[in-house]
Amino acid sequence: MAAQQQNHADAGILAVRDLRILFPSRDGRDTVKAIDGMDFEVRSGETFGIIGESGSGKTTLGRALVSLLRPTHGHILHDGTDPATLGSRAFRKHRRDYQIIFQDPNAALNPRMTIIDSVVEPLEVLGEGNAASRRRRGIAVLERVGLSAEAADRYPHQLSGGQKQRVNIARVLTLRPKVIVCDEVVAALDVSIRGDVLNLFADLQREFGLTYVFITHDISVVSHISDRIAVTYLGKLMELGPAEDVVERPLHPYTRALLSAEPIPLPSHLRVDRRIILEGEIPSPVSPPSGCRFRTRCPSVQPRCADEVPAWRDVRPGHRVACHFATAEGPPADNQQARSAS
Ligand SMILES: Nc1ncnc2c1ncn2[C@@H]1O[C@H](COP(=O)(O)OP(=O)(O)O)[C@@H](O)[C@H]1O
Ligand code: SF4
Ligand SMILES: [Mg+2]
Repeated sequence: MAAQQQNHADAGILAVRDLRILFPSRDGRDTVKAIDGMDFEVRSGETFGIIGESGSGKTTLGRALVSLLRPTHGHILHDGTDPATLGSRAFRKHRRDYQIIFQDPNAALNPRMTIIDSVVEPLEVLGEGNAASRRRRGIAVLERVGLSAEAADRYPHQLSGGQKQRVNIARVLTLRPKVIVCDEVVAALDVSIRGDVLNLFADLQREFGLTYVFITHDISVVSHISDRIAVTYLGKLMELGPAEDVVERPLHPYTRALLSAEPIPLPSHLRVDRRIILEGEIPSPVSPPSGCRFRTRCPSVQPRCADEVPAWRDVRPGHRVACHFATAEGPPADNQQARSAS
């Protein structure tokens, strides 16, 4: 038993094993490989940042991490348990520990319900407490996220985007989850209030011992708050390591391109939105390039890259990369630089 628990602890609070998620394309004729083989763990209490361009599979991954989507292949373990193996009652009980907040502040709020009714709805569904105790708990949590008790009886349209995102945080906090997946949670908010909302997330993490998976296309957001960062590209991970190491000494040509497009000189609340700027379009996840899927845009590409899928390997301690030519020193030189140096 002790050995088994040890294994579970090693596996992390989330463990993703050979994950693939496929969808039929909109016209039904093809298969969209939204997630095409991912392996990683999220540790208890950390903030795990996920960065990548639009279309790289981040939202699909986030939804799968909280069991809103089933893997087509592979597994996602929650604290060592595969939720797909649980019966429906056990599954409902288990799911409260793994919550998600979306980019659109309106996504989880019913416009015809008062704020307090939305906040306590998940508790009501689980049959916890009675109406009075749920209301007390809901108001306490609303106050904790910086909203006054007066906001409780208002409707969503009477609140700002930032206030609504605080309501969404309150809504999941009432469940006292272990893990919250935050999918672009500040992207729709005014730049001037993003810092405040991110600080609230940081405070709540300390207070409640939460684990975060923080998904964004904005490097300045993840570099500021993450312990570790994973870089996604077209349904796969390209790099994963300690946040500072990934930002200051990246190993993958894709990460290097993302970072060189956008230097990070300012504290997050002063920064403008940093969308990823890379030449060319991200290819279609229906037919990703053979070998290394970054090869069609990679400045370091070699003939081997079209034939062999790069292994997902540790190059520095705790720092993994999927590139044939990355070394502990960093990514391979880009071909332009190599030519001008010779
Ligand atoms: N339900 C679905 N049916 C078909 N294709 C989908 C579905 N959900 C996502 N996709 C496709 O999967 C790919 C990854 O999407 P998504 O996970 O939303 O990426 P991201 O959040 O990184 O922008 C995209 O090409 C998207 O069009
Ligand atoms: S494997 Fe080749 S194409 Fe892929 S990132 Fe490395 S050098 Fe670029
Ligand atoms: Mg998304």
